[in-house]
Amino acid sequence: MEQNLAIKIKGLHKAYKGKKGEKIALESIDLEIPRGSFFGLLGPNGAGKSTMINIMAGLVNKTSGLVEICGHNIDTHPKASRMSIGIVPQELVLDPFFPAYEVLENTAGFYGVPKNKRRTMEIIRAVGLEDKAYAEARSLSGGMRRRLLVAKALVHNPDVVILDEPTAGVDVELRAQLWKYIAKINKQGTTILLTTHYLEEAEELCDQIAVIDDGRIIANDSKKNIMKTIDRKIVTIEFDQVVKELPKSFGKLRAHINNDDNIEVEFRKGKESFNEILVAINKSKLSVCDISTEEADLEEVFRHLTKAAYTN
Ligand SMILES: Nc1ncnc2c1ncn2[C@@H]1O[C@H](COP(=O)(O)OP(=O)(O)O)[C@@H](O)[C@H]1O
Ligand SMILES: [Mg+2]
Repeated sequence: MEQNLAIKIKGLHKAYKGKKGEKIALESIDLEIPRGSFFGLLGPNGAGKSTMINIMAGLVNKTSGLVEICGHNIDTHPKASRMSIGIVPQELVLDPFFPAYEVLENTAGFYGVPKNKRRTMEIIRAVGLEDKAYAEARSLSGGMRRRLLVAKALVHNPDVVILDEPTAGVDVELRAQLWKYIAKINKQGTTILLTTHYLEEAEELCDQIAVIDDGRIIANDSKKNIMKTIDRKIVTIEFDQVVKELPKSFGKLRAHINNDDNIEVEFRKGKESFNEILVAINKSKLSVCDISTEEADLEEVFRHLTKAAYTN
């Protein structure tokens, strides 16, 4: 079974030591990523996403725990596990004076890819940099640099490609081109791990999503099930009189009075019927002047999931 895992993490713990003491970035992380999946690691800024994938890639030292990449333990088989991973870092780190072609040739050399097995031009074309193949990195736009970093992660044909917040600074058209290529290599069998703090991005691309918040995995499920959990709306009901106390008829709903003296009801499509809200309004005998609904924002969704994780 284990051969079917691209990533296996057990009891992973990371504490950064700083002047002000320890910062616990990851706490008892368990995570399994099946081979061939398009996996999303979703979480707000500071949740621990970069720490986790940098540990996988051998760029950050863990404090304790087990990490295996395609069956290779990163402690006992660091070289084999590094060969299995290509990482596109969050920061745009590139030597400004090297042209794309040379950057990729050097990286291929670093990984020991023989000259006759190199696909330098093919990769450059795939990320749409053929016009800039011989231009120095410093002359590339932010989006082009990002794509060069993607190309750099692919030269040794790794089984797992990790993209850390890959769309920051990439414009829409190029983004589409990038995803097309990533989807293609995923179809060919490459496991893709994407970190993002954009719900829409994870929703659009990934087939499985883990949610991380404050160093803990708080949800890990198929995209379908994750979206169901976080498919929440806030319904705001405005009355033509000041409401100071929640009417009894709202008792069974997740409702409260907000700062504008309106009633706010949390509504989950899968779990509650909108009709219950209408019934509560009717029974209250109050007269409504407006009803509005808005999607719960992602920060709130994270808070909600975190609360659920701690009370379970
Ligand atoms: N080198 C470091 N030294 C100390 N603290 C760090 C370091 N890198 C990250 N952190 C802290 O660890 C936590 C997780 O950071 P990070 O993994 O970058 O989160 P994310 O990628 O989800 O935004 C944050 O609180 C961050 O401030
Ligand atoms: Mg990060």
